Amino acid sequence: MSAGSATPAARIAHLKREIEQHNYHYYVLDQPTIADAEWDRLFHELKALEEAHPEFATPDSPTQRVGARPLDEFAEVTHRVPMLSLGNAFSDEDLVHFDRRCREGLEAAGDIEYACEPKYDGLAISLTYERGVFVQGATRGDGAVGEDVTHNLRTVKTIPLSIDSDAARLEVRGEVLMLKRDFEALNARQAEKGDKLFVNPRNAAAGSLRQLDPRLTAQRPLSFFAYGLGAVEGIALPETHAAQMDWLEALRFPVSRERGVARGTEGLRGYYAALGTKRPALPYDIDGVVYKVNRIADQQRLGYVSRAPRFAIAHKFPAEEATTELLGIDVQVGRTGAITPVARLKPVFVGGTTMSNATLHNEDEIRRKGLMIGDTVVVRRAGDVIPEVAAVIEAQRPAGAQAFVMPTHCPECGSAIVKLDGEAIARCTGGLICPAQVKQSILHFAQRRAMDIEGLGDKLVEQLVDQKVVRNAADLYRLGVSALAALERMGDKSAANLIDAIAKSRETTLQRFLFGLGIRHVGEATARDLARHFGALDAIINAPLERLLEVRDVGPVVAESIRRFFDEPHNREAVAQLRAGGITWPEGEPAAASLQGPFTGKTVVLTGTLPTLSRDDAKALLEAAGAKVSGSVSKKTDFVLAGAEAGSKLDKAKELGIRVLDEAEFRSMLGTARTE
Ligand code: IVH
Repeated sequence: MSAGSATPAARIAHLKREIEQHNYHYYVLDQPTIADAEWDRLFHELKALEEAHPEFATPDSPTQRVGARPLDEFAEVTHRVPMLSLGNAFSDEDLVHFDRRCREGLEAAGDIEYACEPKYDGLAISLTYERGVFVQGATRGDGAVGEDVTHNLRTVKTIPLSIDSDAARLEVRGEVLMLKRDFEALNARQAEKGDKLFVNPRNAAAGSLRQLDPRLTAQRPLSFFAYGLGAVEGIALPETHAAQMDWLEALRFPVSRERGVARGTEGLRGYYAALGTKRPALPYDIDGVVYKVNRIADQQRLGYVSRAPRFAIAHKFPAEEATTELLGIDVQVGRTGAITPVARLKPVFVGGTTMSNATLHNEDEIRRKGLMIGDTVVVRRAGDVIPEVAAVIEAQRPAGAQAFVMPTHCPECGSAIVKLDGEAIARCTGGLICPAQVKQSILHFAQRRAMDIEGLGDKLVEQLVDQKVVRNAADLYRLGVSALAALERMGDKSAANLIDAIAKSRETTLQRFLFGLGIRHVGEATARDLARHFGALDAIINAPLERLLEVRDVGPVVAESIRRFFDEPHNREAVAQLRAGGITWPEGEPAAASLQGPFTGKTVVLTGTLPTLSRDDAKALLEAAGAKVSGSVSKKTDFVLAGAEAGSKLDKAKELGIRVLDEAEFRSMLGTARTE
């Protein structure tokens, strides 16, 4: 329809539908169908038309999502159907008990079918639609009476303002939450403004939902997921929970992609384990899974006990957050002298294990979080993210709480600690006389990805250095069984094993050796590129800056760091001693010429799940073929290697006209196509 030929009323109706359609694709499906500028144009056209013809302006217009006036207080909403809570299962025993009770209640002969979904860690709300128009949104409150937060919920872009249903009344229930990425962006903005940080996505969502001024809520990106129905009048509903969720999805409500159906306790265990594995990668926090008897008629037969249904239960995951006491702040000295403050915590069980310390990164971080020794703090251990002190509960600060003072001297060697201008990190200036730095550099050298000396862990290195058996990595290659056997908890057998492991490590590669040296800014990838480019260690040691800069991804900072390292006489001496200790690797010609293939020097992005290759394997193959693997698609990307469920990266590649490969094409280009 062109803007000119329609009546204002028809054009307004058209624009409302079109904008909401684009919103749905953008916010719910994550697949934009229109450029931002075009969306803005449609939105402004609608806004202008509604201003010119206020008689056609309605509350379900996308223009009404923002800018409603602040309220003085929330009105009360009495729920037509109470909003209940759920019983919890913490153990397998609880799960078995729940299933047994359901089977007995239904006199079921075989396994029961359950609908399974994530237990979102957000806030329960109820959305009321009358004849397809969103008219009211309310919090759960005490389950019987909640608060009217319609004005705030209108700002939530994934909540449809109108739906394709003429039911006299439809109440959709679900959870409002903040996606992890939105939470991080929000906190980054708060930090930039010097405002207080939110503890976690749930608190940020709760604070945003209960704002009296919806313009504030609009700046706090909230999301919504539907998980059930409340009062429904004037239509017949699908007969299972799973089918109801599919129906809600067809009405364009966001419903979890992770939902599933499982039979019996075995099926539930499988779902629980699978979602537990996925938990860290999900875009939102969850604190468990919810099982619901799938057939609605069976749900009704089972009924309720006090305020929770008998037909559903929440199976909890170990909590990722807990509160505990900050007993003190120690500092640790790293390989390069970096001083890291570490929180000593009163031990607390969180994320499945006991946590008694957590890194605090640096002094600024302590200040930013406002931590004082003696405080009660929120600690968090989520997936493989480094355990952290997420926030302090200032209201519980004891009278004697003390501020952290960065020591002026290294606790390990007494050398001065300095902080260079513009750097966040304070450093010990002790260098090789600092036992902490020596220990860390030996551990770095011995680690699996470097020289791979099996069995040489931190306790052992600690003893070796403290008892002056070893002063540097080269000393390892001079160790005898007798020197080792004298150490605590070291029998002849383990001493012999370690000597063996050290001997084995003598045969290595130039890449591993270079990485093991611990040159600042030279990680595994740079070590590999250097080894490939130069072929031989002496060529690197003697390379002038210009030659170093020819290496892929080596810029001035890295090149200078390499130069500085090898210009230092004691570093050259250390390398000579290591070689004298018998460490060898195959040296060769500069490899650049021999490595020509379709991926040489190309930038490749991986996305989705490949049929047989893991991400790590695909990355290793690409790198071995001379490619650089990057995390995001841009004009500089040469290929995108895509598997199942590839998302926005694939779309972007298509948009930019970048060549997309599947695993089969990739393998045939590598010349390793599988024939089986
Ligand atoms: S169903 C009659 N499904 O858990 C059952 N609740 O303890 C009503 N929640 O207040 C709840 N994810 O906020 C259900 N997939 C899910 C859920 C879920 C999170 C929350 C909800 C409720 C609380 C119950």
